Amino acid sequence: MTLLCRTFPYDFDCPMPDLTGLTDDELRRLADPWPVEWLYEPAPDAPIRVVNLFAGPGGWCTGIRDVLGQDVDMIGVEIHKDAAATAEAAGFRRIVSNVRHLDPRHPALHWVKALLVSAPCGCWTPAGKRAGLQERNLDLLLDVFTMAAEATLGHWHDAFPCDDGADCGICRGDESWDLDGWTGPLLTLEEARSPIADMTDERVGLIAEVVFSGGL
Ligand SMILES: C[S@@+](CC[C@H](N)C(=O)[O-])C[C@H]1O[C@@H](n2cnc3c(N)ncnc32)[C@H](O)[C@@H]1O
Ligand SMILES: [Zn+2]
Repeated sequence: MTLLCRTFPYDFDCPMPDLTGLTDDELRRLADPWPVEWLYEPAPDAPIRVVNLFAGPGGWCTGIRDVLGQDVDMIGVEIHKDAAATAEAAGFRRIVSNVRHLDPRHPALHWVKALLVSAPCGCWTPAGKRAGLQERNLDLLLDVFTMAAEATLGHWHDAFPCDDGADCGICRGDESWDLDGWTGPLLTLEEARSPIADMTDERVGLIAEVVFSGGL
């Protein structure tokens, strides 16, 4: 299920679907792959909800729980089932999935307060081939960052008058324009990720997930 905010100025506080009268199965389907309880507003004294992308076997989780002593309601997303199983054995929660396959606008994420993103370093470290430092990949990555912003926040547009007039891609010279704020998504997430296919190593593009998830 995908819920999109299409109001202008962009309504960052997406309205939640009405959950009244839904069966347990319908709630599970709506929440999937997140837990059903995340569809509901947490109690004021509940630990904050945290999404941990590229969560691995649980380094961040251990630090937060065992070193900092913080109680958080955290779910990690990790592509490798063995790494996820290691985390789960240590008491941490995981969704085994490709980060790119999850929708950051999912209604179960409505109450999430914090985001951790630790994309793989294999393309950046001297221990690898450093594809992330190749000029072509960096150019494409900059395109993805720009398009990721356009697929999430969109563009800022001040209230009328607009200097660009009819050439403006947003108000198109509408003289009655009096709204200001972010437009909201102008591209789909798929469109914004499309330059990644032209990189010599697609993992370079994973670092842009911080914008895709952080912007929405
Ligand atoms: C730098 S490590 C993260 C370490 C982790 N944050 C920790 O605290 O232990 C990157 C992790 O991202 C995972 N990964 C790589 N590509 C992924 C993808 N597309 N979706 C989800 N996880 C991915 C890797 O399997 C690896 O566990
Ligand atoms: Zn304009």
